[in-house]
Amino acid sequence: MKSTADLISMKNNDRIVMVTAYDYPSAKLAEQADVDVILVGDSLGMVVLGYESPVQVTLDDMIHHAKAARRGAGDTFIVVDMPFGSHHTDVNEGIKNGIRLYQNSDANMIKMEGADSFDVIRGLVKAGVPVCGHLGLTPQHFGITGFKMQAGDAEQAEQLLQDAKALEAAGASMMVLEAIPMDLAKKVTESVSIPTIGIGAGIHTDGQVLVYHDLLQYGSDRLPKFVKPYADINSVAVEGLTNYRNEVKSRMFPTEETTYKKRVYE
Ligand code: KIV
Ligand code: NA
Repeated sequence: MKSTADLISMKNNDRIVMVTAYDYPSAKLAEQADVDVILVGDSLGMVVLGYESPVQVTLDDMIHHAKAARRGAGDTFIVVDMPFGSHHTDVNEGIKNGIRLYQNSDANMIKMEGADSFDVIRGLVKAGVPVCGHLGLTPQHFGITGFKMQAGDAEQAEQLLQDAKALEAAGASMMVLEAIPMDLAKKVTESVSIPTIGIGAGIHTDGQVLVYHDLLQYGSDRLPKFVKPYADINSVAVEGLTNYRNEVKSRMFPTEETTYKKRVYE
């Protein structure tokens, strides 16, 4: 099992490969592909629960999915998302929720969106919980920002750079940079000593993350600009399901080979 320190030391000598997974089979396949980190992201709200955004996802949902992923992940390092609203009502509540998620999910690190919860991060790190930040496009704020590139002017870019430094100072061990200009992601990556993991942030981050169902085209049909599809599960699955349907209709399935032959009536 990699440790948080192992991931930090990869910053200067290896690329960190992260992919989301939300259950036993997806985590098992990610583990077989030898990725460095599995992210049980609240994107599960959209890609496996069918919501329009991550807003409806709860702390219990995250624990449920992370535990399933853990059972498939072998000893792959797992990061799990703090869901919408779970660290915004009050610092102690945020720390309690973070501890609850870490303790009950069997994940190795928790991830928190935004630059407004530094006290929560400090409290969690003090308690022994490794924390990953997440700046740029933060989908839990989609009602305000929409799903589009962030920090597109010099002033917003400077703010994000300061936020990244503050995240590191608060004790974060890693950060995701989502949908920001490539030169800003490069600047941030050079300005902090913890790894940056990009999604829609160009080539200069220390690692990359993509959503499982997007990169494998599994149930998702509308891919964001920054996704490269590496497989097409949609067409393989629909073909298999259609063949199954047709064979049942035409009585070609089941056959003798798939039927128990023991007789119980004379
Ligand atoms: O929820 C998620 O999948 C994420 C990644 C896109 C970084 O937060
Ligand atoms: Na997320």
